[in-house]
Amino acid sequence: MAMNKLNRGVAIVGAGMSKFGAFPGKATRDLFVESFAEMQGSVDKGVDVKDIEAVFIGNYSSDLFEGQGHTAPFMTHAVGLNPVPATRCEDACASSSAALRSGIMAIASGLYDMVLVGGIEKMSDLPTSEVTDTLATASDALYDVPAGYTFPGFYATIATAYMDKYGATPEAWMSVGIKNHDAGSLNPKAQFGQRIRELMDIKIKSAEKKGRPIPTWADEMEFMHDDRANLVIAWPMRLFDCSPVSDGAASLLLVAEDLAKNFTDNALHIIGSGQASDVTLRYRSDLTTLSSAKAAAQQAYEMAGVGPKDIKVAEVHDCFTVAEVVATEDLGFFSPGQGYEAAMEGVTSLRGPRPINSSGGLKSKGHPVGASGAGQVVEVWKQMRGEAGARQLEGDIDVGLTHNVGGTGESCFVHIFGRK
Ligand code: COA
Repeated sequence: MAMNKLNRGVAIVGAGMSKFGAFPGKATRDLFVESFAEMQGSVDKGVDVKDIEAVFIGNYSSDLFEGQGHTAPFMTHAVGLNPVPATRCEDACASSSAALRSGIMAIASGLYDMVLVGGIEKMSDLPTSEVTDTLATASDALYDVPAGYTFPGFYATIATAYMDKYGATPEAWMSVGIKNHDAGSLNPKAQFGQRIRELMDIKIKSAEKKGRPIPTWADEMEFMHDDRANLVIAWPMRLFDCSPVSDGAASLLLVAEDLAKNFTDNALHIIGSGQASDVTLRYRSDLTTLSSAKAAAQQAYEMAGVGPKDIKVAEVHDCFTVAEVVATEDLGFFSPGQGYEAAMEGVTSLRGPRPINSSGGLKSKGHPVGASGAGQVVEVWKQMRGEAGARQLEGDIDVGLTHNVGGTGESCFVHIFGRK
């Protein structure tokens, strides 16, 4: 059996991201340059970017979103690094985790000492219906798309299966939405910088101004149940269960572990990396778990020599609120069927005993699909270095994890980060 280890250690010595959101006046390369500049500025002892030997860019579908294929050399040009080799990596919403793993393997093999890993996506130029069709190409185009499935529909199917199996109710998903908007309100890079309570107040003020009937929601949960304020997208997934249509970019600088001290005394070391694939939803016997996530997590934990209890910061793939609950079970934070209660009881909130998605997650921070995995790493970078500001987690944040899903788990990547 193959040894689950890297031949040479790899460390992250710089990380940056653009703001996530909808930026009609900006090109993808503008967002990538923003993330690259922040990454460069984050390298404590400085870096000559001319030493970067290769570029790996995660990008799902610039072809369909913007009519631009072959994105890696173009991004490389935007940051002035040609003629270094530039490769685009695509695994749907996990594309930049695929880029990260490619970068890790490129250094671990000894081929390069320093590589740039990026993630990019610009989705907001298309109307939502075309975004939905473009995203649906990550599912089975022969069977699922003609049957009318879209991603909200897939995750609604997972949610109803979970509710049927474990007795969860939609309030569980609503709790995740409220929680992630709470955390996102503390993240200046987040697309939605507001708590649900603040959004409610904005809507009340707007109704007053327009002379419309004033909503009388008693609390956030009542707002979440309001069909006008929180539209059903694909029951039980409502508007505030969905990640938004987003633009954004992220950049990570990877070096061989023995060189890390030249750049910082506070590097993030890659201590675990796992990747797995799975059949599409209709072939699965259990819709309440992603077997690719469990397999990728097992590989990453084994490589890192740590378990779920050791993880202090976890960014998990909450493209829809139900996905976060399933992820927390697949990663071993909770037993199957216990994750939804943990979310409802506040266990996974920012100040709870097992915080999940301190960045606001994809739900609130935004989900520019090809950039999301690298964006998760930026949050872990900030938390492990004590640079997360108002949302900084308490205690010694010495081990972090990212969990990034492509499609409904046809691909999954889990990475674990530590200090050395
Ligand atoms: N969560 C909360 N609010 C959202 C939102 C979201 N996901 N998406 C949009 N909004 C808000 C907007 O800010 C806007 O608010 P305002 O009226 O106060 O200004 C309002 O809802 C309407 O925005 P709009 O852009 O017209 O929404 P839409 O109906 O076109 O799109 C969704 C809403 C949920 C359909 C869209 O965000 C979506 O498709 N999300 C899922 C994306 C996805 O599948 N990603 C891949 C996952 S695998």
